Amino acid sequence: MHPFVRLLAGFLVCVVLPRTVAAATPPLITPGAEWRDTQGHVIEAHGGGILQVGRTWYWFGEDRNPSLDPEKRYVSCYSSRDLLHWKFRGHALALSDPEHLGPHWVLERPKVYYSKSTHQFVMYVHLDDARYKYARVAVARSARITGPYLFLRSFRPLDSESRDIGQFVDDDGQAYLIFESRPSGGFYVARLSPDRLSVESPAIAFLDAPLEGGALFHYQGMYYVLGSHLTGWRPNPNVYATAPNLTGPWSTFRKIAPASPDTYGAQSTFTLKITGTKATTVIFLGDIWNPKSLSDSRYLWMPLTISGDHLLLPEPQPWTINASQGLTRIAAQPVPPAR
Ligand code: DGJ
Repeated sequence: MHPFVRLLAGFLVCVVLPRTVAAATPPLITPGAEWRDTQGHVIEAHGGGILQVGRTWYWFGEDRNPSLDPEKRYVSCYSSRDLLHWKFRGHALALSDPEHLGPHWVLERPKVYYSKSTHQFVMYVHLDDARYKYARVAVARSARITGPYLFLRSFRPLDSESRDIGQFVDDDGQAYLIFESRPSGGFYVARLSPDRLSVESPAIAFLDAPLEGGALFHYQGMYYVLGSHLTGWRPNPNVYATAPNLTGPWSTFRKIAPASPDTYGAQSTFTLKITGTKATTVIFLGDIWNPKSLSDSRYLWMPLTISGDHLLLPEPQPWTINASQGLTRIAAQPVPPAR
């Protein structure tokens, strides 16, 4: 072979081909695996929630990195345009004990809303003492989505104990807080005020089941609420109920993953609806908690299979998404033939 041809062939094999293959192989979301941000650091966003602004998704969650100041609690913010690559945008909230809660005080499950009326972003968190007896929500506000958020106050929504919180924004823009209230033996769905700073009374729905990790979505005319049983950091069979309206009537609860005794080790935290140009997909966001090292808790994100009033969390497998089209693909499955 002519030396130039050999050189050209070598160039094609070593430089061009890997790039072409890399371009043709989209990155994967691998449930349960270590997930790194665009700088190569492990993503710290536990008990999280996602807010879409324009073409960008912002993921907020608990940053439990043990190298951080142990007196403070941190909410991290990541952003992404494709749901596959996440860029760390800093700590949206870095809070010192705001109300003399004492050692090992708790800040969990941050959720961020946007208020059209004030053009402000409002963060809700579960605020507690070490024994989980304070049972309140706290609100913090920022003019910028990435923060810094300023702590405003804490309260008990509808004068009820509130531990795990969840977030739901309906297609009509109404925003809701989901909160678990132990004395009532169930959890509430309550509308937020237009400025998002308070919870309106009475509750829109009361789910008569002792569940936490509440998540809710609206898909093709049906509402779906998800939650987990109260087993601390240990996983359990997460369940769901459906209703034609937020106010009910709600169906009985059924398991989201009947094939797994413990929801593949995960606990629900959020459901993300992606309305693409070709499909609408709902993604289950769960935490695989590691109570011995909470910062090493992992994420289980999987597209849900939904049909009528049935919902299924499929067995976790690496998958990918075309976020603008709303189409997902399980990595092990062949690419459908081009038409
Ligand atoms: C389960 C909750 O869902 C978590 O957010 C956390 O509060 C743990 N309980 C604490 O045991």
